[in-house]
Amino acid sequence: QTATSFYEAVGGAETFRRLVAAFYREVARDEVLRPLYPEQDLGPAERRLRMFLEQYWGGPRTYSDERGHPRLRMRHMPFRIGPIERDAWLRCMRIAVAEIEPEVLDDEHRRALLDYLEMAANSLINAPF
Ligand code: HEM
Repeated sequence: QTATSFYEAVGGAETFRRLVAAFYREVARDEVLRPLYPEQDLGPAERRLRMFLEQYWGGPRTYSDERGHPRLRMRHMPFRIGPIERDAWLRCMRIAVAEIEPEVLDDEHRRALLDYLEMAANSLINAPF
């Protein structure tokens, strides 16, 4: 099997590092999202999201080695996530995705990534408003 994973096709670890770093830079200045994050230091949360996304897209399986099964819906239950939080999360993520150059992330991969992030964010809503 020589099929290239999405992870490899979009530049591997460096791309995921940049994506998630830009995302948390935005979270840090977002007045809806910042209060949700329990830890003062966003570094550990940044690392967990990066490991998760790398694994999801066919990269190293470090996330599950360290954290076990993702069970994202359960892990988000402590946080109240309604449409406002979902929109704030996606706003930060879209800014981060937009910073990855088209030479690194072509239209097709960009569309797949954004579609996934939107679907995943919708699936984690656990409050009606
Ligand atoms: C963890 C908020 C959507 C993946 C967290 C945490 C918060 C949070 C507050 C705790 C920080 C930490 O300790 O890691 C939100 C909000 C979302 C959202 C408000 C809006 C819908 C997503 C989506 C994904 C995701 C769409 C995946 C594509 C993760 C992961 C963790 C996490 C992997 C760490 C889980 C663990 O191993 O403990 N999220 N999140 N989140 N989130 Fe989200």
